[in-house]
Amino acid sequence: MTEQTQQERKPANKRKDQSVSESGFATKAIHAAQTPDPTTGAMVLPIYQTTTYAQQAVGVNKGFTYSRTGNPTVQVLEDSLNILEKGQGGACFGTGMAAITAVFALLSQGDHAIISSVVYGGTPRLCNMILSRYGLKFSYVDTGDVDTVRAALSPKTKLIFVETPANPTLKLTDIRAISEIKGDAKLVVDNTFLTPALQIPLDLGADITLHSTTKFIEGHNSTVGGAIITKTKKDHEDLKYLQNAMGLIQSPFNAWLTLRGLKTLDVRMKRHCENAQIIAEYLEGNPKVTKVLYPGLNSFPQASIARRQHSQGHGGLLAFELKGGVKSGLKFASSLSLITLAENLGAVETMVTHPATMTHAAMSKQARLGAGITDGLIRLSVGLEDVDDLIFDLDQSIKKATS
Ligand SMILES: Cc1ncc(COP(=O)(O)O)c(C=O)c1O
Repeated sequence: MTEQTQQERKPANKRKDQSVSESGFATKAIHAAQTPDPTTGAMVLPIYQTTTYAQQAVGVNKGFTYSRTGNPTVQVLEDSLNILEKGQGGACFGTGMAAITAVFALLSQGDHAIISSVVYGGTPRLCNMILSRYGLKFSYVDTGDVDTVRAALSPKTKLIFVETPANPTLKLTDIRAISEIKGDAKLVVDNTFLTPALQIPLDLGADITLHSTTKFIEGHNSTVGGAIITKTKKDHEDLKYLQNAMGLIQSPFNAWLTLRGLKTLDVRMKRHCENAQIIAEYLEGNPKVTKVLYPGLNSFPQASIARRQHSQGHGGLLAFELKGGVKSGLKFASSLSLITLAENLGAVETMVTHPATMTHAAMSKQARLGAGITDGLIRLSVGLEDVDDLIFDLDQSIKKATS
């Protein structure tokens, strides 16, 4: 049994009351902010599909005025994620990229940001192609190495943006270690790959946690969305201001679907971890596979950070390379039958991606190779199917691709 499960399974006589703050993660994900509708008793929160709200008098209202500024369904998702990530405020966005845009919009002309050299390809595209035009400066460094981050800091550094585990090589950053050297810069952690079920960055010293809720949080390949949870009320207020001013909002319907996904997050993450660990070990034992990257393997270069930082498993993502490089990698991707070739990750269905030509195609070849995203690398998002069926499909496809 893991440390966290032991903590969560508090003996009844050690609990003060039945309050949300005393509950375990799975209970919070189901009940914390999602209470039955007070007007009708409906067990499931309604989709408040409305643009505006009747006001009782000028300046007198029930907390909502216009759905760009606030919407009751979206607000419940924001409150739920805030409770799970242990923050002081949550804000939900139309996509993960909208959330990332908002976080960088906290900066002003001349400010400098440090970004992990391995991140989802859309982040450097946003920074290099768009935000650099507004006088922001970016350095891409190996945030897995604390000394490299220290060397890149300057008085102008206002933000350190890390993704851990990172897309697609699973490279880790020691959040606690970076929080201790960051000075006044805000440490932002993209927690998309693990979710608060497995890692709570604010507990580890981060200032801001960010998600593409498109992935594990919603978990069913049905929406796009993003979220930001902050350690301080001030950062939350600043982000809500930016969100309203820039129109970077989530829709009530997507928020409702995401809330539905959230209710099963804990149980899904456990199965993602279980399946991914078994598959990583199978791949490691397959002579046609030349490299496997999964933080739960003893061979993973940063296995000690993984054990310290991840609470009850290492997530559903892994990456690997086949003998024969790019050619066999591409043949493998098109020979699968149960597993789908697709851009997304973190859903119930197992999906495979070729990062060099798909998710990270926007990066220059030099930056890609520098970050370890080789042309033959395959990313696997392990879903919730029976693991034997997944291994059967991987096996037949590896055989076809390498014969
Ligand atoms: C780690 C990570 N962060 C952010 C994003 C961007 O999220 P979205 O696609 O919801 O805009 C992605 C997308 O793949 C991602 O993998």
